[in-house]
Amino acid sequence: MDIAATDLPVDPLDVLRKRRSAKWQTYPPDVLPLTVAEMDFALAAPVAEALREAVDRSDTGYAMATPGLGRALAGFAASRWNWDLDPASVVAVIDVGVGVVELLRLLARPGDAVVISPPVYPPFFDWVAEAGARLVEVPLAHDGAGWRLDLAALETAFAARPAAYVLCNPHNPVGRVHTPGELAALVRLARAHQVTIVSDEIHGPLVLPGATFTPLLTVPGAAEVAVSVLSASKAWNLAGLKCAAVVTAAPRMAALADRFPADTRWRIGHLGVIAAVAAFTAGEPWLDQLLTTLGHRRARLAELLRQRLPILTWDPPEATFLAWLNCSALGPGNEAREAFLERGRVALEPGLRFGAVGSGYARLNFATSGDILDQAIARMAMSVT
Ligand SMILES: Cc1ncc(COP(=O)(O)O)c(C=O)c1O
Repeated sequence: MDIAATDLPVDPLDVLRKRRSAKWQTYPPDVLPLTVAEMDFALAAPVAEALREAVDRSDTGYAMATPGLGRALAGFAASRWNWDLDPASVVAVIDVGVGVVELLRLLARPGDAVVISPPVYPPFFDWVAEAGARLVEVPLAHDGAGWRLDLAALETAFAARPAAYVLCNPHNPVGRVHTPGELAALVRLARAHQVTIVSDEIHGPLVLPGATFTPLLTVPGAAEVAVSVLSASKAWNLAGLKCAAVVTAAPRMAALADRFPADTRWRIGHLGVIAAVAAFTAGEPWLDQLLTTLGHRRARLAELLRQRLPILTWDPPEATFLAWLNCSALGPGNEAREAFLERGRVALEPGLRFGAVGSGYARLNFATSGDILDQAIARMAMSVT
C-alpha cells in the first residue's frame, strides 16, 4: 500500500508562490523557502469553512473570545491530553509572544533575570528584552540520546532566584518532547527556588507518532508555579490570524493574567478566535492526518539526508515540523546555510538566530510536499559538493 495515499495534499509550487505570507514573500521566486514555521498544506476543512462563513456574514468586527475559546480549548485538551483545564482560567491574547511578554512584565522588575534554554525559538531572546528583564542562558544538553533540558545547570541558575524560566514545551528548534520525569524535576526546582515557569506550548498539538506530550500544568505541583501559553496557530497554520490563550490552574497564577492591560482583549484577531474554536472543536481528525503526514515527511527527510547529505547530522524531532541540522562539518556560524541559499537556492533558518550554540546549525521546515523536500535536499547536496 502507498503510505502516502493518506497524506495531506500540498498545492503545486506556482500556487504556493501566490501566497502573500512571510514564508512565500521573503525570498526571490527561484528560492525554495523551508524557513519560518508556516505549513504548505491546505487548511483543515472545518477551519476554512468557519472562516468562509464569517466572511459571508461580514463578521469581521472585534473579537469576543469569552467563553468560546476557553470551552473549545478545554474540550481539546481533555480529549487529546486528558488535561482537565478550567475554561474560565483561559485568557485570550493576540499571540503567544504577547502572552509571554505580558507575563514577564508582571513577573520581572526591570533588570531581573529570566532564564531560557538555547538553542531556542529566536523571539525568546527578544521577549525577555521587551519585558525589560535580563537574559540568562542555560543551554540544552546534548548527548547520545539527543537534546534535553540541562537540569543540573538549571538548578544552579534557579539558585540565583531569577524571576522566571521560559520553557519551550515541546522545544523548537530541536523538536524535543520533555518527559513527565524531566518536567517533574523542573517543577521541583521551580518550587524550591520560587521561580515561575512560563511554558510556551504552542507546539503541544504537534507531537509526532512515537512521542507523548505532557502539558506542564498536568504535572503534580506545577499549578502554583507555572502558567501555560497555547495556540492553534502552529498545528492548524493560523499564525496570521492572531489568537492565543494563557492558561492557569491556581489563584496566584490566575491573578497574574487578571492584571494584563485592559486593552489586551481588544487586540485579539476576531478571525483568529473563530478559526481557533473551529480547530479545537472540529479539527482533530485533520490534525491526526497532519501528524501522519509529518511522520512520513520526517522519515523521507531521514532517508534523503542519509543518501544525499550524510555530512549533516541530526536527531529526528519528536515534535514540530522542524529539523535542527548539524552542518558544522561544512563550516562554523551560518556558512553552510549561506551556501545552501546562495548556490542551492534553498532557504533554511540560520542556526545563529537560535543563540550562539546554534553555530554550525540550520533549521529546516519539512511541512511541505515530498516533492519539494526532494528538490530541496537535491539542491542543498549539489551546493556543497
Ligand atoms: C515556540 C514558539 N513560540 C511561539 C511562536 C509564535 O507564536 P505567536 O505567533 O502566537 O506569537 C512560535 C512560532 O513558530 C514558536 O515556535
